[in-house]
Amino acid sequence: MGRDVIVACDFASAAEVYAFLDRFQEERPFVKIGMELYYAEGPQIVRELKKRGHKIFLDLKLHDIPNTVKKSMAVLSRLDVDICNLHAAGTVNMMKAALEGLTRPDGTRPLLIAVTQLTSTDQESLEEDLMIHAPMAEVVMHYAENAKKAGLDGVVCSPLEAGVVHDRCGKDFLTVTPGVRFADGEVGDQKRVMTPKQAREIGSDYIVVGRPITAAPDPVEAYRRCVREFCD
Ligand code: C5P
Repeated sequence: MGRDVIVACDFASAAEVYAFLDRFQEERPFVKIGMELYYAEGPQIVRELKKRGHKIFLDLKLHDIPNTVKKSMAVLSRLDVDICNLHAAGTVNMMKAALEGLTRPDGTRPLLIAVTQLTSTDQESLEEDLMIHAPMAEVVMHYAENAKKAGLDGVVCSPLEAGVVHDRCGKDFLTVTPGVRFADGEVGDQKRVMTPKQAREIGSDYIVVGRPITAAPDPVEAYRRCVREFCD
């Protein structure tokens, strides 16, 4: 899979997702399904969107003992998603087990990427709550390298980190980056943002874009603008 725009379908129900995606007549965007929608609608939402021809990033961020993650990944693999993810904090062994679970009998599998540290975790909570006494940037890179060591395909990271991740983990190690905004758009609650064009220049492989597309007056045009800036 090459560079692509993934639309974060952060809606609370299947009806809202279908109403949104029905606007797209010519394109079948790559979509991200998160916990809220998946827990509300179950695996059927994945099956339906696959049937409609969308590629799917199922963003469930698994984190449990290796055996449980392995078995759960096997279930997600049968759903035929294209990308799924987990928390690198679950350890290298958990990530290896996840890969095993994800791999189908014929050797194929969805891409598997890791969340390093959530962007909602700051240096203070890293130290106070998690008792991790290293600078955030080092922790993020260490977790990315753990993901690489476990055999994963890449990480979710800020577009600002994508260049360093490629330097340390190789150019084929995927960087999937949220926090993308148009130069003339609203930033909202995202703190460290980049435009699709800047994300491309720094080497993001996939950008995850939610509200700049879903809340745009013309979502199809906003999606096309993202694709023009990021992919063309
Ligand atoms: O609407 P917006 O473009 O901010 O949506 C970004 C998407 O990426 C949301 O689904 C959000 O949960 C997700 N995300 C993020 N920052 C991270 C990880 C995931 O914004 N560090």
